[in-house]
Amino acid sequence: MIQPAITGSGVFTPEQVITNDELVVAFNAYADRINADNAEAIAAGKMDPVPHSSADFILSASGIEQRFVMDKDGVLDPDRMFPSLAPRDDDSPSIMAEMAVDAITKALAQAGRDPSEVDLVICAASNHERAYPAIAVEIQKLIGAGGFAFDMNVACSSATFGIQAAADMVRSGSVTCAIVVNPEICSAHLEWRDRDCHFIFGDVATAVVIEPEAQANGAHFTIHGTRCATEFSNNIRNNNGFLRRTHDQMEDRRDMQFMQNGRKVFKEVLPMVSAHILGHLDDAGWEADSLKRLWLHQANKTMNDFIGRKVLGRTPEPGEQPNILQDYANTSSAGSIIAFSKYSDDMQAGDRGVICSFGAGYSVGSVLVERA
Ligand code: COA
Repeated sequence: MIQPAITGSGVFTPEQVITNDELVVAFNAYADRINADNAEAIAAGKMDPVPHSSADFILSASGIEQRFVMDKDGVLDPDRMFPSLAPRDDDSPSIMAEMAVDAITKALAQAGRDPSEVDLVICAASNHERAYPAIAVEIQKLIGAGGFAFDMNVACSSATFGIQAAADMVRSGSVTCAIVVNPEICSAHLEWRDRDCHFIFGDVATAVVIEPEAQANGAHFTIHGTRCATEFSNNIRNNNGFLRRTHDQMEDRRDMQFMQNGRKVFKEVLPMVSAHILGHLDDAGWEADSLKRLWLHQANKTMNDFIGRKVLGRTPEPGEQPNILQDYANTSSAGSIIAFSKYSDDMQAGDRGVICSFGAGYSVGSVLVERA
């Protein structure tokens, strides 16, 4: 059996930022316009006015201070509230592939690998720009990789499920240099006109390189184990799909974008995730005390604080459970990998950590790693 390792990681961060204040100004302008357009119905009690959003609420409910996006103007235009990302012709790289190539280039540089050595690309994300050909196959061509490539989607857990798939293939010897890349354009499947969730998401792409440990070029993380679990729930759902007809016909269907029952998610996912991590650690014979770091999915600060406390049995020390949520918001599958990529350089040989993601499905995935 071949021992797999994470030998490199990289993050593509979009150039444009939306602060909570900017977001709330746009949302409130939209709300005022809707309320003015429907003044009669509201006065007659036939319609509720759209209430204003608040930057203070957003920060205290989520821990989010800002988010990076691929297009700020479209999102902040009260008459649009949706990114303006023009469709590209078939001979131009797709937007997801372009973001992915940037993150992969950084990850391969860290691993000291040439793109031509890559023989597997998994594009694991919560939404894909088209049905086929797979974005991963386009990425494979753009970077000049060999082997094969495929897309997968397990919503927010896509990265860890992708890591398990890649690590298993490295372990069995069917691939020798795998990329798991997570380009997330969450801004295009978020309903920016919904006050309950308009602040949640941001855009980003992350990538990791997974290889046999024996061929690692430098410092790396041994993958000691991966574990994935799913349990069906409708509490996070997006009904958009190939049975949708034209955009015009379905424009007003709220269920064609991200929907959640946030309170239920909060209540149901927390015990599932903490039990999952503790069970994985236990089966691996790892004491929670021996963990130097938790790189958790970044959905909500309170949720992460709770999981950290439950797993470690105490409040995590600063740095033990790094949050990037305040800067990036929830970036779906990429969140735990941003945290890993930005907060792992200081780990010493023998230091252990857990990468864990969770979300729609429900789904939860954990990866036990040790710095080598
Ligand atoms: N601005 C101001 N007030 C707002 C608001 C906004 N943007 N959005 C909601 N509120 C208000 C509500 O109207 C409600 O007011 P009320 O008590 O007078 O009725 C109050 O704030 C609480 O709303 P609620 O939706 O119950 O907030 P919450 O404390 O549950 O926090 C989430 C909302 C989404 C942040 C929280 O439920 C959560 O993080 N859930 C898990 C999300 C998650 O991880 N999803 C996974 C996605 S991958």
